Amino acid sequence: MNLNQKFKTIDDFKKSLQTHTLHVSVIGIGRIGLPTALSFADSGLHTTGIDINTNLVKMINSGDFPLKDEPGYDVIFNKVNNKQFFATADIKAALEQTDIVLLSLPTPMDNANVPDYTALKSVAKQLHDLMKEGTLVIVESTVEPSFVETDLIPIIEGTDKKFVVDKNFLIGVCPETANPGEILKDFKKLPRLVGATSEMTTSIIMDLYHHVFPVDLLKMPDCKSANAVKLTTNVFRDVNIAFINELSLLFEKLGIDTFKVLEAAKTKYNFQIHYPGAGVGGPCLPVNSYQMLNIAKKYTNDFKIVRISRQVNEYMPDHVMDLIEDGFTNAQKSLQGSTIVVLGISYKPNVKDVQLSPAEKIIEKLTYRKAIVKVYDPYYKSEKVFGLTVDDDLSTAVTQADAMVLVTAHDEFRDIELSFLVSKMKKTPVIVDSRGVMDDHAAKKAGAIFRGLGRVIS
Ligand SMILES: NC(=O)c1ccc[n+]([C@@H]2O[C@H](COP(=O)([O-])OP(=O)(O)OC[C@H]3O[C@@H](n4cnc5c(N)ncnc54)[C@H](O)[C@@H]3O)[C@@H](O)[C@H]2O)c1
Repeated sequence: MNLNQKFKTIDDFKKSLQTHTLHVSVIGIGRIGLPTALSFADSGLHTTGIDINTNLVKMINSGDFPLKDEPGYDVIFNKVNNKQFFATADIKAALEQTDIVLLSLPTPMDNANVPDYTALKSVAKQLHDLMKEGTLVIVESTVEPSFVETDLIPIIEGTDKKFVVDKNFLIGVCPETANPGEILKDFKKLPRLVGATSEMTTSIIMDLYHHVFPVDLLKMPDCKSANAVKLTTNVFRDVNIAFINELSLLFEKLGIDTFKVLEAAKTKYNFQIHYPGAGVGGPCLPVNSYQMLNIAKKYTNDFKIVRISRQVNEYMPDHVMDLIEDGFTNAQKSLQGSTIVVLGISYKPNVKDVQLSPAEKIIEKLTYRKAIVKVYDPYYKSEKVFGLTVDDDLSTAVTQADAMVLVTAHDEFRDIELSFLVSKMKKTPVIVDSRGVMDDHAAKKAGAIFRGLGRVIS
């Protein structure tokens, strides 16, 4: 047994927490890792953010907060940066000082939708080579159940058994569940899950997170159960959205407005509302479903619902194309050579993030059909995204356009004055709303042809 003096007993740990003598390092200071590191620093603990992105490290060290769409964290950043919190790309030097390592590394998937744990595995190897004996490792990244036990721990231990879990290092998980754009709010209210390889490690992690976050902590029996909860909540959403997407395809044919059905359905106490849309993107939901499928296939060939839900959600950009085409047929126009403005490219409203966004698929399909595609998104003004330069003004973007297609329901699009925009567009423009936020009557009154995903064509 060769544990850090500060973790020898729970009392030792509590003392080191209160006296702020612990040094925490967060490896991966992106969307989730940076706010996490800032919260640890704000609780009084010496915190280092470690990242291979040297530009990000430079930006942070020069006092420029990179997450402009995370309200509240700019204030915490200004308070702790270069005081309790430092960023570095030098993992070796940082780990020499570190008692507790948090891993907030990306867990994306490859082009074949297979989870890609390269970052976690390569950092695990660095931990084996560089961390101090007795270090506590906490995995915040989203991984499939049993990945920590079967993959990560063996890499940290190494074939030379330089490290042995629960003997000379500790490990547990606290999967991150915050929503981009609302991380500070979520960190103050969402319960966290804690699992570890021993009772003692679980207690230490619970004490640590209680010190930093004012939220309930759910104690899970082990790492894999905590990771299973994280995946279950997100896959639940992916599957339910797929169900509503499939219903909306049927309801469109039946002349039933899905949004009206949902508003009424939600009055039933045990109905949980999910909305149809152009597709499900982002770094979490699609990836988490594929993580679940990845672990399931090791045990069964018959894990159906998640797979089919993915198929339905991945089909939705094609359905948006069908709606666009239907609108163009009605307007007696051809897609080829027409100017179509895509409104919103983020994968979800009110955040600056285009990872796995359905907008990319729709833009690709429109370009393939030789339409002239323009893009407006308030979060990407003048930036180049998906090969296009994003317009910096909505009314300029739609001027003389043949169509506009709303893909992301940013708040700005909820207050659109359709009659004004339609007056700027070509005669009889086509408007497609894939998120149920536009007023179809106002569009039609202004002289546009309107198609809405899950809506009635009238
Ligand atoms: N973004 C979300 O909505 C969200 C929500 C909950 C959980 N998560 C999970 O949190 C984890 C992190 O996600 P994120 O969105 O913050 O990712 P991100 O891509 O925003 O940040 C990851 C950071 O890790 C750095 N990095 C990559 N490889 C590295 C390495 N070898 N060494 C050091 N740094 C390295 C990158 O440069 C980047 O800054 C993922 O597992 C994700 O599934 C994300």
